[in-house]
Amino acid sequence: MKPKVLLTRRIPSSALATLEEACDVDRNDGDALTPDQLLSRVRDKQGIVCLLTDAITPDVMDAAPGLKVVANVAVGYNNIDIAAASARGIVVTNTPEVLTEATADLAWALIMDVTRRVSEGDRLIRRDGWKGWALDFMLGTELSGKTLGIIGYGRIGRAVAARAVPFGLRVIHSDVQAVPGSGAIPIDRLLATSDIVSIHCPLTPETRHLINQAALARMKRSAYLINTSRGPVVDEKALAWALKNGIISGAGLDVYEDEPNVHRDLMTLENVVLAPHLGSATMETRTAMADLAVRNAIAVLTGQSPLTPVS
Ligand code: DGY
Repeated sequence: MKPKVLLTRRIPSSALATLEEACDVDRNDGDALTPDQLLSRVRDKQGIVCLLTDAITPDVMDAAPGLKVVANVAVGYNNIDIAAASARGIVVTNTPEVLTEATADLAWALIMDVTRRVSEGDRLIRRDGWKGWALDFMLGTELSGKTLGIIGYGRIGRAVAARAVPFGLRVIHSDVQAVPGSGAIPIDRLLATSDIVSIHCPLTPETRHLINQAALARMKRSAYLINTSRGPVVDEKALAWALKNGIISGAGLDVYEDEPNVHRDLMTLENVVLAPHLGSATMETRTAMADLAVRNAIAVLTGQSPLTPVS
């Protein structure tokens, strides 16, 4: 008999075909399952293939006594209670590596957009507000010679840093948990010296609201903040205050504290670019993420080692 797997959302057809060949799949093709729907559909399952929007709580795990694996189609896994899974012997996997380049590209799209005011200009044209070329019209900030500060120097942080070299930026970095000999500098120093601060650390109890009012006040008034990691790493209310009051120059955000809701004040500001969590959203990357998650689930359910377990 094939193992039973709950697939919480649509995935590319190639990954679905692989999963259906090896498993008996209960798939949800509609909107995200509510917590109650998740609880009732997981009962008889040995595996879950889920997205970052699914909260895999101890209750969900307890509702499925035969659960062996939770395969997240994401590199971040703050939606899963890892301690509870370990305590129950459930393997949790994620999708590192395959989304590194796409997410680094998106961080750069935000850097370029906010420093050169591209989306702001687009909005101006669409409301018929462009009155023509002028020497001092919509001036942005040059990148060459500036300093890019990266918080969280893992795979994605390093890929963002690699793209900075051809733009002539100097790169500095900080890690939330200091790694001796890594060249990391204290976060306060990074905030005070960077022209652009780009966040790439995971969301943990230590990084929640890492960028709060005090952190923003340490940044240069001419600096920009980019966040493609997880929304709650930044205190959105404090960021809106900083953007409104000229404490920093601008921000580019791909992630939010309460997705898909965005702090109302941010929506009214011109100096922030808002993307709807698109970091990994390319055809190639999303397909690779789904493939990897499916292979992880199948590996565990057929008694093999997972390819990319969460440690
Ligand atoms: C992830 O995989 O954690 C990303 O946020 C998805 O874009």
